[in-house]
Amino acid sequence: MIKPHGGLLINRVDTDYQVDGRNKQVHLDQIALSDLELLAIGGYSPLTGFMNMEDYQSVIETMRLENGLPWSIPITLPVSEDTASDIEIGSTVNLVHDNTVYGVMTVTDMYIPDKHKEAEKVYQTIDAEHPGVKKLLERPNVYLGGPITLVNYPQKNRFAAFYLEPSETREAFRQLGWKTTVGFQTRNPVHRAHEYIQKTALESVDGLLLHPLVGETKAGDIPSELRMECYHVLLENYYPNDRVFLSVFPAAMRYAGPREAIFHAIVRKNYGCTHFIVGRDHAGVGDYYGTYDAQKIFNNFSEEEIGIKIFRFENSFYCNKCESMGTSKTCPHDIEHHVSLSGTKVRAMLKEGKLPPKQFSRPEVANKLIEGMSKTLTEAGQ
Ligand code: ADX
Repeated sequence: MIKPHGGLLINRVDTDYQVDGRNKQVHLDQIALSDLELLAIGGYSPLTGFMNMEDYQSVIETMRLENGLPWSIPITLPVSEDTASDIEIGSTVNLVHDNTVYGVMTVTDMYIPDKHKEAEKVYQTIDAEHPGVKKLLERPNVYLGGPITLVNYPQKNRFAAFYLEPSETREAFRQLGWKTTVGFQTRNPVHRAHEYIQKTALESVDGLLLHPLVGETKAGDIPSELRMECYHVLLENYYPNDRVFLSVFPAAMRYAGPREAIFHAIVRKNYGCTHFIVGRDHAGVGDYYGTYDAQKIFNNFSEEEIGIKIFRFENSFYCNKCESMGTSKTCPHDIEHHVSLSGTKVRAMLKEGKLPPKQFSRPEVANKLIEGMSKTLTEAGQ
C-alpha cells in the first residue's frame, strides 16, 4: 500500500472527548468545518491542524511546508478581530458550527495574513470575481493555527454510506486486491470525456477511485446530491463494477487550478491511490489558467516527493470521423469533426429538457440532470 504524504496517516478523531463548555468558542464556516474533518481523518496528512504562520508562509511562497514537504494550498482557520482579541495563545478553543461543537484546537499561533499576496500566489489573480479569491476576501482577517481534535462528525447527508475515510478506502483497496488505483477528482457529472480518460487510465491500473468533491462549491455548479445520482446510473450502465470504487471527498472546492491539482493529488495519495488523473484545466474556472498549467506545475517537484503518479490527459472529445473518443494525440481530424459543447450550452439544453448528443453525454446521465434541474426550477417556483 502506498505511503501517506509524510509517511504517517493522521487520525485525530476522538468522539469520547469531554469538551469543556467554558472554553472560548470559534465559529467555523463550511470550508473550515470540512477542513477540520479532513485534517482529523488523515485526508490532509501530515497536517495535524490549521496551519501556523511558518507553514502558511512557506506554502504560499514555495508550495512546501516549513519542513520541505510539498503542499500547495493553505489550510487556515480565519476568525474575526473580535474573536481573536478574546483568545490566548496556548488556550484550547471549541470549534463550533450551528451551535454544535465539532472539534477543539490548542491555539499555538495567531497571525494576520497578507490576503493580497495569498490571492496572487495561490490563485494567480487578485480579481475578486474569481470564486476562490472572493471567498478568501470574504472570510475573516485573522488566522488561528494549532493542532485539532474532531469530537463530533459533521452531519452526513443522503449519501452517508459513501463517506469513507482514508483508512477505510485503503482497507477497501487492500480487500479488492488492488495494487494500483487511479484517483479521479470531479465536481461535475461525468461526461464522455471524463469517462474516456478514466477508462484509458483504467487500462493500466487495477482500479478506479471515482472521488467526487462534495464540499462547498460555487453557485451554478451542479449540487452533489444530483451528481451522485448521475454517477450511480453511469456506473450501473457503463463501468465494470468490480473495478470502480465510488466514494466522496468532503473538501470545499478552491478553484485554484494548478495549485489545487497538486493538493488534490496529494490528498488522493492519502486515500490510498497510486495514480491520479489531471486533464485539461483541472480545478480551473473562467480563463484564469492555461489549459495545461495544472499538469506543468508538477514539474516543480520530483516524482518521489509527490509520491503519486500523475496521468496527464489532453483535451478529450468525440470525433465524428473516427467515430470514437480521442485527443489531438490520437485523432488526425479537424476540429469541425469534434463534438464539443460549452458548459453554458449544455446547461441551456438540459434546462429546456433537451438531451445533449450521446457523443457528449450518456443519455442516462443527461436524463437524470434534466429531471434534477426541472425539480430545482419547480422548487424555486420558476
Ligand atoms: S474539476 O474542477 O474537478 O477539475 P471536472 O470535474 O470537470 O472539474 O474535471 C475532472 C477532471 O477531468 C480534471 O482532471 C479535468 O482536468 C479533467 N477533464 C475535464 N474535462 C476534460 C476534457 N474534455 N478533456 C480532458 N480532461 C478533462
